This record gives sequence, C-alpha cells and structure tokens, in this order.
Amino acid sequence: MAINYQERIPNNVDLSSDRRLQRALEHWQPKFLDWWMELGPEGFQAADVYLRTATSVDAKGWATYGAVKMPDYRWGIFLADRVEDRRIGFGDNMGEPAWQQVPGEHRATLRRLIVTQGDTEPASVEQQRLLGLTCPSLYDLRNLFQVNVEEGRHLWAMVYLLHAHFGRDGREEAELLLARHSGSSDNPRILGTFNEPISDWLSFFMFTYFTDRDGKYQLKSLAESGFDPLARTCQFMLTEEAHHMFVGETGIGRVVKRCLELMKELGTDDPAAVRRAGGIDLPTIQRYMNFWFSSSLDLFGADISSNAATSFAAGLKGRPDETRYEDHVEADTVTKIPVPDGKGGINEEEVPTRNAMNYITRSAYIRDCEIGVKRWNRTIEKAGADFQLTLPSERFNRKIGAWAGLPITPEGKFTDPEKHAAMAGEWLPTEADRQHVRGLMVQVTDPGKMASWIAPPDRGINNLPVEYEYVHLAN
Ligand SMILES: [Fe+2]
Ligand SMILES: [Fe+2]
Repeated sequence: MAINYQERIPNNVDLSSDRRLQRALEHWQPKFLDWWMELGPEGFQAADVYLRTATSVDAKGWATYGAVKMPDYRWGIFLADRVEDRRIGFGDNMGEPAWQQVPGEHRATLRRLIVTQGDTEPASVEQQRLLGLTCPSLYDLRNLFQVNVEEGRHLWAMVYLLHAHFGRDGREEAELLLARHSGSSDNPRILGTFNEPISDWLSFFMFTYFTDRDGKYQLKSLAESGFDPLARTCQFMLTEEAHHMFVGETGIGRVVKRCLELMKELGTDDPAAVRRAGGIDLPTIQRYMNFWFSSSLDLFGADISSNAATSFAAGLKGRPDETRYEDHVEADTVTKIPVPDGKGGINEEEVPTRNAMNYITRSAYIRDCEIGVKRWNRTIEKAGADFQLTLPSERFNRKIGAWAGLPITPEGKFTDPEKHAAMAGEWLPTEADRQHVRGLMVQVTDPGKMASWIAPPDRGINNLPVEYEYVHLAN
C-alpha cells in the first residue's frame, strides 16, 4: 500500500479506516512534538536540514531528499508490504498462519519486547542532543540529524503497534515512552547503555557502529516474529538502520584516516605527537572501541536465558536470518557456550539451544562487527603504519552475563585482579583520553570544511558534493 502523505500522520496502514486508532495517535502526536522540541537536537530546530523521507517501502527508491526543518519532518507509520499467507517460521507454532492480532497467551511477553525496543529509540535521540553544538562539519551535522529523526520515527513504529494492538495498556505504555528520560535519576530509560550521555563525536561514531548494530540484530530477530505487524514494522526499520551503521563505519574510518595523514606529515607514530597536531591517535581509538564493543555486547542480555527461550518457543522472536539455520524448532538440541569454570579457566557448557538464543544472536553480531574493523585495518596497512585495530574478546569488560566483573584481558584470558586493575588505562578510555577528545570538539559549520581530527568523506549525500550546504543554519 502506498504511503499517504495527505493525512496528519503519514502512513501506509490505511489509518483513516480506523477512526478510533487515528484519533488516539493524533492525540499522542503533539506530545511527541513537545518531547522532540524539549529533548531533541539542541539549537537547530529552526535550521533547514537536507533530509531523506520515506516515500514507499519497497527496496528501490524509497526515499526522497530535500531541505526540511526537523520539527516539520513527516514522521509516520510505515510497514513493509504484507506477504500473502505468511507462516510462523520457528518455534512450537512453526508452520501455523502468522498472527495478525496479538495471541492472548503471549500478550505480556510481546508487549515487553515492543516496549523495550521502543524505549531505546527516543533514548538515543536524548543521548545525542548536544552533539550538534560541536559538529565537525555540516555533512556530519546532517547525518546526525538524519539518524535522530529516524530514531524518532522508530519510536512512532513501536507506538503504532502499542496503540493498534494493546488497547488501554498499550496507550499507557506509549505515554511512558515519552516520560522516561535518558540519564534521569528517578525515571531513566530501561537499558543501562541508553542512560549514558554521548558527549563527543568519537563516541557518537562508536555508538552508531556498535550500539546501533545491536539494534539491527534485535530488529532482525523481531523481523522474524510470528506476530506479523511487528515483523513488517521491523523489516522497514532495518532499511533505515543501515544508514546509521554507515555513519558509524565511515565516521570511525575517517578518524583513522586523519590520524594516518598526521602520522605521515609528522613522520612519527607517536600518539602524543598526533594529539598535539589535533588528531586522535590509534591507541585511543582502540580504547574507545574496547569500551563501546563490550558495552554493546551487554545489550544482548545473559548468555543463557529462559526469557529468550520462551520468546523463541512462542514464535515471537527468532534468530537473525532464521532461514539460514537448519533446525527452526530446536526442541531437544543443545549448544555449547563457554562459561567460567570457577578456577580461572574456561569451560564449554552444553545448554538447550533455545536458552542460547542471546548467545547465538550475539555471535552473529560479532561477525558483523568484524567487517568494518577489517576495512579500517586495510586503510592502516595501506598507509604503511604498524598498528592493527582488534575487537576485544567477548569476555572482556562485561557487566552482564557469565563473564560480568571478571578480570579478563582484551585477549580473553584470565589475569590476576590487581594486574587487571593496573591495566585498565591501557585497555579502556582514561580521563585524559576523554579530555583530549572533548578538547578537539569544536563546531565547524563552513560548508566543506572539516575539524582537525577527521578526514572528509569520500563522497557527499545523494550524489551531492561534500561542500554542499547540508544544513542551512537559521539566522
Ligand atoms: Fe532505531
Ligand atoms: Fe539506529
């Protein structure tokens, strides 16, 4: 179904045929806008931003580009097209028709899945709200805002499901999604990572590379759902999410590239010299990676999880790309998971595969994370520098799961706790690292100009030159 932009709420779900739902969402809309004005990007609500907006949900040409003031962005409800006679693809109900309405016995689980996903969307906008004040270029500023408006739309996507399928408690949950705030002491966001402010652009690029990619894997699992409206919602969200990871991958790549340029100019690989010249040195980039990778792994939850088993068995949340697995029921199968043996070693524990879903999804995520790292290393190698970026072990620096709080090196080995504590500054960003990075964050808004610590992108947005005025600041 085509997207209808004539209505107050753009949609491709024939919203006008359901007056009650339409009215309920029109009632929520001004509250969303109030939230956006108060907690969305600070200082740029009147600027004209070169943004893409969804025009259709098929793979080809779904976007149109143009200058938009962010509060006028056409946030709406877009679901991927319905597949005729779609069946549940995994779990105990495998092969039965996909649900178009919420199955009563799974109502609470399904609502929790939708609320948890929905909560991360506005949270990330809140975390990033001050970044515009220190943007390294107009190109980057525009990308930040594109990510922000799309996270706002992802909130709409989840709120639609709550309103359309969960009655009164769904409407209440939708209100709460605007009431919780990132970092608030009395009403914080649901997941820990989403309460940390993102106060510098290196962290923003790490977040979009590692944390948005967790989002991608959660959405991929939900896109398999037997609850068809959720599956179709997430399928379209994934097409938007791809841009967020592009921002992360190219962002980190450009910081690496700039560092290599400075090393060449200076004729040294001394991190201190790179810093004095206004760059971010490779060891600092590595420490930021260690931090953001490990904290994003925590978002997958415990390695062995009965909640995950329940969602899989019920057909609510599958594995990313479920069709790639041989067995979609996993009734009596087992999976081996490395766990601490309690004596400073590692033990392979056999657990029912259904209980290992978080571990399996996380493993696919890690393989996906490796791709960008390889690309960055190729850039480093080509420049002739003797350095390699590496993802730390998945056991390193964990706060959740079997490895939480254990003295593990980035290589994944046990070490004694004192040595571990002493090495923290080598492995994770230090206060001095953060201060240096923060010190580099100055706003650059001349079209085509870049801050000292980042190389220009290879190309602009939508075939426009890098020098294009992607954000026209209000006078
Ligand atoms: Fe999102
Ligand atoms: Fe995202």
